[in-house]
Amino acid sequence: METRLTEIAPDVYQLTTHLADVDFSLNQYLVSGTEPLLFHTGLRGIFPLVSYAVSRVVPVDQLRWIAFGHVEADECGSMNEWLRVAPHSTVVQGRIGCGVSIADLADRSPRPLADGEVLDIGGHRMRWIDTPHVPHAWEAGLLYDETTRTLFCGDLFGRAGAYPAATTDDIVAPAITTDEVFRASSLAPNSGATIRSLAELEVDTLALMHGPAFTGDCRAALLDLADDFDRRVAGELASPTGPAV
Ligand SMILES: [Fe+2]
Ligand SMILES: [Fe+2]
Repeated sequence: METRLTEIAPDVYQLTTHLADVDFSLNQYLVSGTEPLLFHTGLRGIFPLVSYAVSRVVPVDQLRWIAFGHVEADECGSMNEWLRVAPHSTVVQGRIGCGVSIADLADRSPRPLADGEVLDIGGHRMRWIDTPHVPHAWEAGLLYDETTRTLFCGDLFGRAGAYPAATTDDIVAPAITTDEVFRASSLAPNSGATIRSLAELEVDTLALMHGPAFTGDCRAALLDLADDFDRRVAGELASPTGPAV
């Protein structure tokens, strides 16, 4: 098992590990500004692989910010390992996540970010966006790099298996097929609207957590995904047995 390293936008690196036993892949993203930021830590079990991949770009002890979308093992499992090897690093996440979970789970105090707040890491302006329950979890949020117009969209558009580092092929159909199997997304009444609001950003690259970086028509992809969430929410509400979840 190894972690593939690919620069998907200027100074934005995708780190991909394929877990062969479950045929599932995880991405982390390293944004190597003056104050390097890692979005998603990866599982504790792949920390040696991921930290080695990071070290090919920046010394791991120079990492300054550790960010993730929500509290889950692939998002933040190795958070404390990173805090240990990068002594000047700080976890950043939304106010809900920091207040409810991370202030207790993390070995050092996190820095909460308000919805829309920009973290300037020197060379990249990273905007935190609250997306409660999208794709899942109360504390969910995403990061948008205003500088490279990259939206780090976490589990949105997720798929199983291996994939290339980047693509312009359709990412919506594989995401719908996958979510109909795994049912990982919260089908909240406002899920579609939340995704649709992301389409208002100027996005050149969608940086997926479980899929390739997408450099096609990002606005259309987000709008199509939003429509599918609306379709599935409506379907659940119309079900004679009521919503399944
Ligand atoms: Fe997740
Ligand atoms: Fe994930």
